[in-house]
Amino acid sequence: MCVLTGAGISAESNVPTFRDAQQGLWAKYDPHELATPEAFERDPELLWRWYRWRREIVAAAEPNAGHFALAELAGLVPRLTLVTQNVDGLHQRAGSASVIEFHGNLFADQCSVEGRVVEHDQHVDVPLCPHCGANLRPGVVWFGEAIPEDALNVSFAAAADCDVFLSIGTSSLVFPAAGLADIAREHCATVAEINPNTTSRAANYDYVFAGNAGDVLPEMVESLTV
Ligand code: APR
Repeated sequence: MCVLTGAGISAESNVPTFRDAQQGLWAKYDPHELATPEAFERDPELLWRWYRWRREIVAAAEPNAGHFALAELAGLVPRLTLVTQNVDGLHQRAGSASVIEFHGNLFADQCSVEGRVVEHDQHVDVPLCPHCGANLRPGVVWFGEAIPEDALNVSFAAAADCDVFLSIGTSSLVFPAAGLADIAREHCATVAEINPNTTSRAANYDYVFAGNAGDVLPEMVESLTV
């Protein structure tokens, strides 16, 4: 089984989606302009303030029934590869192992020059890489940046190799993640979508579960355990 999740699976944990996260002080900024390497270069302090605000929101959230059901599902099928577009770490907190983070992790600090993820204890506006002194940046994939090569290779291979592909809580608009279901279909997998708002791509899929991930996934798990 290969599973792709998007912002919708964290909606029931009250994690605002990237697009509707702009409230209060941040409402005047367009996330498509803020989440870019150019914006970081221009004003790293502003970007860090935005990401610290987002980290606080996510740190206060808890995994929901959908996250927990997926962690359980992994123990019920021979092999499950979980690919997420989310950067919130909620799959891991629900017990999923080896999660492939397509768009990185909100809580990782990464050297903006060498790309390595580092640990540090600096409490400053813009932390610096302990190895080379360059600015550290949040370890997420920004607009215009490439998906980490490992994540891409493992995900594409899993999609090509699976019998069942689940597309959960994603609008399937952002590529290359949105292409994974097509790869699975080309390799004759059964493809299903779980989303309360059926997407434009669902017509190509074998099954559509028009409901919340937090309802549908626990039912799926239950049907496999009775
Ligand atoms: N259960 C399942 N799906 C849900 C739920 C729910 N409870 N609530 C909402 N959804 C669905 C919505 O109907 C929508 O189709 O989740 C989807 C969320 O879509 P997007 O906000 O576009 O999120 P996603 O597909 O993850 O976006 C991909 O784009 O914003 C960038 O980099 C960011 O990783 C993100 C990428």
